[in-house]
Amino acid sequence: MTSGAFPFEANPNPVDAAERAARLVDPGFGRVFTDHMVTIRYSDAKGWHDAKVGPRAPLTLDPATAVLHYAQEIFEGLKAYRLADGSMALFRPEQNARRFQRSAKRLAMPELPEEMFLQACRQLVQVDKDWFPPIDGGSIYLRPFMIASEVFLGVKPSAEYLFMVIASSAGNYFKSGAPAISIWVSEQYTRAARGGTGAAKCGGNYAASLVAQSEAIREGCDQVVFLDAAEHRWVEELGGMNLVFLFDDGSLLTPPTDGTILEGITRDSVLTLAREQGLNVREERYAMDQWRADAESGRLVEVFACGTAAVVTPVGTVKSTQGAFTIGAGGAGQMTQKIRTKLVDIQRGVAADTHGWVQRID
Ligand code: PLP
Ligand code: COI
Repeated sequence: MTSGAFPFEANPNPVDAAERAARLVDPGFGRVFTDHMVTIRYSDAKGWHDAKVGPRAPLTLDPATAVLHYAQEIFEGLKAYRLADGSMALFRPEQNARRFQRSAKRLAMPELPEEMFLQACRQLVQVDKDWFPPIDGGSIYLRPFMIASEVFLGVKPSAEYLFMVIASSAGNYFKSGAPAISIWVSEQYTRAARGGTGAAKCGGNYAASLVAQSEAIREGCDQVVFLDAAEHRWVEELGGMNLVFLFDDGSLLTPPTDGTILEGITRDSVLTLAREQGLNVREERYAMDQWRADAESGRLVEVFACGTAAVVTPVGTVKSTQGAFTIGAGGAGQMTQKIRTKLVDIQRGVAADTHGWVQRID
């Protein structure tokens, strides 16, 4: 099928304006949902079909639906912003569409054509545009995902899939309001190994991270950082964000994306902006013991986490069974602030979009 506008069925019972306004005062992350959703079906026999935008509603699934047993599922996360001039835009959505295709390939799922992915995202934001939170940093977070929908218990790629996009009004990902987050080093658990699914955005990666994330919370930390599976030595990424290190010689380091970490779109944007600001950008492995030594010697001056949900968030302290250490003064560093401001200004249409990252949707 082609991808002009999808058929639209309005929600007959949308949330009323007063209730919506109340929910948008402090939406946090991932709890406030809009009135509509996109669905597109796939079968081996028919290909992609039945695309529509309809009322947001629960799914009814047969208990033997494949995704419930073997976790053949992938997802994406991207934000729609209101620009300074009042129009709406998506940030680099074609990158999400392409990563979704790469994830699909890794999980033996069919690849959704890029234009259908983009149309689904654009149309949902247009339909639910009243759900932008009127707060600083507010956005509509889009969650495209695909599940194996064949009713069959044999272990094989499903013959049927359901692709959906839901939308959620978003404020800050981290509740604490602290100037910097704390992270816990997972020494017992790893997230991804060579040949595994670390570079794919599949639900299974997150399921496997939860026990380590719970450990982080128990230790009083906001997030967990994973080390490589082979040597338990090289820093990889957080449960849901990439990591960036800034040194006193003006260089910036981030672990390379060579199969075990997610190729973050924020990461890529940040590296581009950092190069433009004259930083020496290095995509190199970084050992955990070096991280501690560099923080203690003062060579390492700032660290931040980056991702769609977290944008750019400073890391203040790092804790492990070896004890805790602080990065710089433990708060938000200057270069982190500068990179964050530049990125957010482009996303919001305040700074010039010289890379063609901002796709207007109205
Ligand atoms: N790493 C993981 C494991 C993630 O879940 C995310 C979030 O999507 C990222 C990194 C950052 O990716 P992006 O900047 O594309 O949101
Ligand atoms: C995102 O940033 O979009 C993610 O998927 C991360 C997740 C922890 C919310």
